[in-house]
Amino acid sequence: MFDRIAPRYDLVNRVMTLGLDRRWRRRTITALGLPSGARVLDLGCGTGDLCEELRARAHAPVGIDLSAGMLGAAHTIAPLVRGDALRLPVPEGTIDGVVSGFALRNVVDVGALFSECARVLRVGGRIAMLETDEPTNPVLHAGHRLWFRRIVPALGGRLGRDREAYRYLPRSAAYLPPRPELLELIGTAGFDAVRHQELGGGAVQLLTGTRR
Ligand SMILES: C[S@@+](CC[C@H](N)C(=O)[O-])C[C@H]1O[C@@H](n2cnc3c(N)ncnc32)[C@H](O)[C@@H]1O
Repeated sequence: MFDRIAPRYDLVNRVMTLGLDRRWRRRTITALGLPSGARVLDLGCGTGDLCEELRARAHAPVGIDLSAGMLGAAHTIAPLVRGDALRLPVPEGTIDGVVSGFALRNVVDVGALFSECARVLRVGGRIAMLETDEPTNPVLHAGHRLWFRRIVPALGGRLGRDREAYRYLPRSAAYLPPRPELLELIGTAGFDAVRHQELGGGAVQLLTGTRR
């Protein structure tokens, strides 16, 4: 599916988030809180937006993604690797930070992903992960539902030429564990200072933690 939507992914992403995704990505790198020069993996990097934000802050990113189509459509000069985020080709304790943008709900085992992050991070290393969420405010929740159930698939059909994919993508949030379970999974995998922040009125969540 990601191979299919790759050529127009960036365009649909910008429109679908009303351009706010750029701000969320900057917040993610700020929340990572690492000094410049940090070695950071971007899991499920797609077309490389987070890699570019990392480069803009003088970090040393490497993007990893399963989809050759997304990597082929990438617009970053950061090194990119085709691979599985659940089996990182990286030795233990050698990485300063791990980020991901809207990739958590796509992996088959999110707990295993956090454990893999813990394996490759040095003690004190950081994770900062962006993912979709659902606003708790009832009015925002209704607007969010309308946007993602009706407008996003229509936009995806028009701009992204793949209505099915853009119907699936918002719904795939159902694969994410509920918030308390998600935070517990991060803690159990080996992280302290686990924090959840709401962005975009609760439409997006930013998860952070420090490797203990
Ligand atoms: C919704 S896209 C997000 C792309 C990009 N991070 C962004 O913020 O726009 C999810 C990406 O995760 C990738 N992906 C899904 N499962 C993966 C896995 N197990 N390992 C690596 N990449 C994966 C997909 O190929 C896709 O490019």
